[in-house]
Amino acid sequence: MEMMDIDAIMAQMRPRLDTHGLNTKAIRAHLGDCPWRVYLFGEVDSTNTMLKKLCREGTPAGTVLVADRQTGGRGRLGRSFQSPGGVGVYLSALLRPDCTPQELMHLTCATAVAMCDAVENAFGFRPGIKWTNDLVVSKRKLGGILTELVLDPKTCRVEGAVIGIGINCNQLEADFDESIRPIATSARMVMGREADRNRLIAEMVKSLEAMDQTLLSFPSPMLGQYRKDCITLGQHVSILRGDEVRHADAIDIDAEGGLTVRYENGEIGTVTSGEVSIRGLYGYI
Ligand code: BTN
Repeated sequence: MEMMDIDAIMAQMRPRLDTHGLNTKAIRAHLGDCPWRVYLFGEVDSTNTMLKKLCREGTPAGTVLVADRQTGGRGRLGRSFQSPGGVGVYLSALLRPDCTPQELMHLTCATAVAMCDAVENAFGFRPGIKWTNDLVVSKRKLGGILTELVLDPKTCRVEGAVIGIGINCNQLEADFDESIRPIATSARMVMGREADRNRLIAEMVKSLEAMDQTLLSFPSPMLGQYRKDCITLGQHVSILRGDEVRHADAIDIDAEGGLTVRYENGEIGTVTSGEVSIRGLYGYI
C-alpha cells in the first residue's frame, strides 16, 4: 500500500468491505455539519498503522478510518488489542496540530474526555477513566486509546497525531477471551440492550473534532473534566516501571496529563504515560 492515496486503498479493499452493519450513510446521518471524512473498512491490520502511513503521504487532517475488525490491533506498551468483527468500534483519526511533541503531552487525556462525551451522547451513560487511557465501567475496561505522533525528521515538530480508539460495543461476557474476561465489559453489557455502533462512531468523530479546536489552548480546558472522570485519583496504586514496583497514592493530574503521586515515604512525584503501567493494589483498577 506504499504511496497510495486513500481513495485507491478504498477501491482495492472493496471486496473486504463486509462491515456487519457499519454503514457510511448511517454514520453521516448523525454527523451534522462536521466536515471530517470517515472511511469505512471491513478488515484491516490496524487502523493506526494504516493512518500513520497515509499521514506521511500527505493525507489531510480530519481523516478518520474505521474498521469492522482488525487482524493486528495494537494497544499501549506494545500490547495487542483484540478486535473481532461485528461487535466493536476501531477508529483512528488524524490531527495536524502545528506544535512540538511536548505541547501534546495531554493529548491522550483530552481524547479520553472526548470519548467519555461520545459514549454519553450515544448511549446515555458516562464511563470513567483509568489513568491514562482506559475507559472503564464498574471496574471493567470498556475501551482504550493509543495516540501516536509522526514527527518531521528535520524540525522534530509534529507532522501528524494519529489517535486510535477501540470501544467494546456488543460483546457478551462469553465473547471475550478468557484472558481478559474478568476485566472487560461492553456497552451492551452495561445497557442491557444492543449498542448502535454507527451512532457511536458519529459521536466519536464529533467529539474529536471539538477537542481538536481547543487542543493547543493552555491550560487545557478539558483538565477539570478529566479530574472528575478519572477514577484513579484518590486511589492507592502500584506503579510498574520495568521490573520495579512502587506503591503510592494518586493525588492529582498535572497540566500535561501526568499523574501526581505521593509515595509511601512521603516523596511527591509525577508519573508520565508511556513509561509505566498503573494497577490498583488489588487488581486492574
Ligand atoms: C489500549 O487499550 O492499550 C489501547 C487500545 C487502542 C486500540 C485502537 S483500535 C483502533 C486503533 N488501531 C489500533 O491498532 N489500535 C487502536
